[in-house]
Amino acid sequence: MTTSHKQRVLSGMQPTNTLHLGNYLGALKNWVKMQNEMECLFCVVDMHAITDAGYGKPDEVARATREVTAAYIAGGIDPRKSPIFNQARVPAHAELAWIFNCVARLGWLDRMTQFKEKSGKHKERASVGLYTYPVLMAADILVYKATHVPVGEDQKQHLELTRDIAQKFNNDYAKPDYFPLPEPVITGPGTRVMSLRDGLKKMSKSDESDNSRINLTDDADTIAQKIRKAKTDPHPLPANENEFKGRPEAENLLNIYAALADEPVKAVMARFAGQQFSGFKGELADLAVSKLSPITAEMRRLMADPAEIDRLLAAGAEKASAIAEPIVQDVKRIVGFAV
Ligand code: TRP
Repeated sequence: MTTSHKQRVLSGMQPTNTLHLGNYLGALKNWVKMQNEMECLFCVVDMHAITDAGYGKPDEVARATREVTAAYIAGGIDPRKSPIFNQARVPAHAELAWIFNCVARLGWLDRMTQFKEKSGKHKERASVGLYTYPVLMAADILVYKATHVPVGEDQKQHLELTRDIAQKFNNDYAKPDYFPLPEPVITGPGTRVMSLRDGLKKMSKSDESDNSRINLTDDADTIAQKIRKAKTDPHPLPANENEFKGRPEAENLLNIYAALADEPVKAVMARFAGQQFSGFKGELADLAVSKLSPITAEMRRLMADPAEIDRLLAAGAEKASAIAEPIVQDVKRIVGFAV
């Protein structure tokens, strides 16, 4: 990355189904910290949502877009500091994505593991949009010349592709420093939240058991109940990280506690070492309720007024466009369009 680019953060989440504790601890909570350190923009990637699960479900995409927006705000993103907007309201994303479709090579996209996983055995039946999804993601980032992108481990390969696209564009159009090469900000393993029913599986919105996850729309009783029902093992709580071996549920619950309390896992382990799970779960339930119920309550309050959410998205899109439009205009001229 060259120093000529000012530091800027861009990240986004897809509006599909409901958000859960993993989205909060793994992403949102870290974004909230970043907004005080750098210029940030936060996008709801509705155009990505229709590449796959959201396709043909307009009501669901619209509802989930508002829900994700509400979660951003309830989780602590201040829309006056960091624009919050949905991708479809800023046409520059789609315009740059088209140009990047011509920069990226088929061979690069053929290597994307997330496409292989999502399309499964029937690649020929996946949408073209799903295939070119990482190119749209590159446009999301580079349309703001963002330099830092907080993402989970699973998005690292897409960030590498973004850098490849930036570099090839800069090179092919002889503009050595035009786009920055954005860095992933990988949120640590401590915030990798696993299922409450199986410590080896990621907490996921697609898990059929609702008890496997804490949704950001759950009320206090539901949150406490899910934690009390969480799977554990028959041993007392471990004293150090070596004792996590073969005990993924213990590791997960302690990690969740540490992340919610903003404490190192070591400190939490020292406090509970040798105790029974029942007592620990009671304390974890209290902690989770105290940290999450203000957020879930605020989300419900915001969701009750969809028109206000739409106004916020419109205001965010205006600020985002003010950055993105001149860049896309520039890029169009660079590639030779008569604009
Ligand atoms: N692909 C990302 C995910 O599934 C979502 C996303 C789309 C994104 N565009 C982005 C994340 C730009 C960061 C920056 O998690």
